[in-house]
Amino acid sequence: MASYRIASIPGDGIGKEVIPVGMKVIDAAGDKYGFKVSWTKFPFGSDHYLKTGEILNDASVKELGKFDSIFLGALGDPRVKPGVLEGGVLLKLRFAFDQYINLRPVKLLPSIKSPVANKGPADIDFDVVRENTEDFYVGIGGRAKKGKSSAKLEVVRELYKTKFGLDIDTDANEIAYQIGMISREGTERVVKYAFDLCKQRGGKRVTSVDKANVLTNIYGLWREVCEKVAKSYPSIELEYNYVDAITMYFLTKPEWFDVVVAPNMFGDIITDLGAAVQGGIGLAASGNINPKGVSMFEPVHGSAPDIAGRNIANPTATILAGALMMQQLGETKAANAIVNATEAVLAEGKIRTGDLGGKSKCTEVGDAVIAKL
Ligand code: NAI
Ligand code: MG
Repeated sequence: MASYRIASIPGDGIGKEVIPVGMKVIDAAGDKYGFKVSWTKFPFGSDHYLKTGEILNDASVKELGKFDSIFLGALGDPRVKPGVLEGGVLLKLRFAFDQYINLRPVKLLPSIKSPVANKGPADIDFDVVRENTEDFYVGIGGRAKKGKSSAKLEVVRELYKTKFGLDIDTDANEIAYQIGMISREGTERVVKYAFDLCKQRGGKRVTSVDKANVLTNIYGLWREVCEKVAKSYPSIELEYNYVDAITMYFLTKPEWFDVVVAPNMFGDIITDLGAAVQGGIGLAASGNINPKGVSMFEPVHGSAPDIAGRNIANPTATILAGALMMQQLGETKAANAIVNATEAVLAEGKIRTGDLGGKSKCTEVGDAVIAKL
């Protein structure tokens, strides 16, 4: 019998509610399809940080590197400054394990209503492949010239002070910069993944997202690499969309897309639109993938402090993220069964959480999916 060692990091807020439900669904699928998961839970998140001061140290990263996969809930807590946990855990793991693909399926399930009028499940079914390790997220940046006035400004400052008794902002000259970089190799591997995925799903086109008309260096290289990779896939068409234009097309012609490949920041932005198009953030799953290393699967949503602790969060995104994880581990039958069971529960319409207009509990959705399995 196949067995997998998976690390779970429930994290904060509703992460602690949806992850146990997702784990239970995977265990049930394992019973049915002949595999076993041994889970190890890690405490990273706000409680652990506030108690111990530890966010995620290097020893823990090393430990996590021994697992077949990571199943993550969400990070973020109102008691902690924004970015500390999100960056310290989530981004740190993405970079540490070189999870260069962020896979976000945008698929409207039958029985879910998209906010896009007149578009149904046949129209809304594509994959966004976001580059996950480069671009503006590498952390090259700085700030300078704070409090340093120019000679001219000093004269004006003196004048205002003596004449009107007013203080002029001496930080007026402060500057900040943040650099976006991509590498040929980093681009090639993610674009290749997008083409392979397109082939696998029987799609006919890969849509590349950029802003090559203005940011000509960075996205000029991006396009050159796309061009080169596309040559090895003669049956798949390569097209380019500017990032501003694609936000329109996601709404006006979602049926056009098979696989969309995007640099990190543009990918980050357009996938939230993707989540909305597929019916809401409670349904959107994602994978941070290194095909040859440790991957990490998570719902797209955050820790939702506004509804945490009440067992009312929608676990669907997490259950579908679990299906993506099992797919990546090679358990295709189990992965498909989880998706189908989830679709069946939603289609019946009896068991739904509040975000989908129902009154069911988070755990009830999980149990209904398990019953369908
Ligand atoms: P959020 O995704 O946590 O919540 C946005 C809205 O959607 C809220 O009204 C929430 O109640 C609702 N919602 C989210 N997931 C839901 C679910 N499964 N079922 C029902 N309703 C759901 O985003 P927000 O409020 O901007 O961020 C809250 C915290 O989460 C912040 O600390 C933020 O930094 C963090 N965050 C973490 C992410 C991660 O760990 N990957 C991703 C996004 C945000
Ligand atoms: Mg985002």
